[in-house]
Amino acid sequence: MNTQVLFNTSKRVIGFVNQKGGVGKTASTLSIGTGLALAGQKVLIIDGDPQGNLTMFFTADKAPGFYDFLRDLNDGTFSDTGKYILRDVRERLDIIPNQQRELRTLLHDSQIAEIAPRFIELLRELKTSYDWVLIDCSPSNGALERTLVSACDTVIVPLEFQVFSISGLSGLLDEIKVWGGETGRDISVEALIFTKTEKRINRMNEYREIFSNFRIPIFEVCKSESLPKSIETGRTIWESAPTGFAAADYYDIITHVFLGTDDE
Ligand SMILES: Nc1ncnc2c1ncn2[C@@H]1O[C@H](COP(=O)(O)OP(=O)(O)OP(=O)(O)O)[C@@H](O)[C@H]1O
Ligand SMILES: [Mg+2]
Repeated sequence: MNTQVLFNTSKRVIGFVNQKGGVGKTASTLSIGTGLALAGQKVLIIDGDPQGNLTMFFTADKAPGFYDFLRDLNDGTFSDTGKYILRDVRERLDIIPNQQRELRTLLHDSQIAEIAPRFIELLRELKTSYDWVLIDCSPSNGALERTLVSACDTVIVPLEFQVFSISGLSGLLDEIKVWGGETGRDISVEALIFTKTEKRINRMNEYREIFSNFRIPIFEVCKSESLPKSIETGRTIWESAPTGFAAADYYDIITHVFLGTDDE
């Protein structure tokens, strides 16, 4: 078997985005980021969410991170992006942590909007040091999320299937288009990931039909008992249940969306 990995260098910065909360943005960023690192890829995860869920998974230390990065850009004291990176939290995996719950009051939307172009430029420089840069966004749509999405090459939208998913998704896709347009960039949606699906009652064909107008590849990650437990105890799905359904679903996404693996 010759496994050829086809890289698309213009799609290295990928945001996990949905203004709806609790849909699996953090679990997906974490599972895919650590999965890519295990597959030999050099990965940077940016915790873009002031809730800091992803940071708490990797560290209890208050290392300088995302907030300090933005603050220093705002103050004019910024010198080097490397200062905000916590290296080797896992093999081949670095993070820019974020434990600043007060971020939105410490830095106002107008200040974030002002430093956005410089931040985006720095992120584009930074991506040359990594195979992938993944951004875990918060469940909001303020200047912070606008800036993060504008810095992405593409985004992935995790969501749970509900009656309101379709109207919510249309709104989100429109916003992403506008945000990208403001910085002259065309940010496409790489995939929809339906999370916490019931394997017993497979509804993927139904979802594909309902969401076919969006013309976006659709994936699922089934509901897993072990995933929330393992995250709580600081273990990835690859460490806690590597042979389970959820790991298989994330593996599928990694191979299809990220590595474009061609089995010949
Ligand atoms: N496939 C899954 N099976 C079971 N539980 C899951 C699955 N994916 C995520 N969860 C759980 O659902 C909860 C919400 O997930 P997560 O924190 O990833 O969502 P989020 O979109 O990042 O939330 P927020 O908007 O608050 O940042 C967590 O407890 C997580 O462990
Ligand atoms: Mg989250």
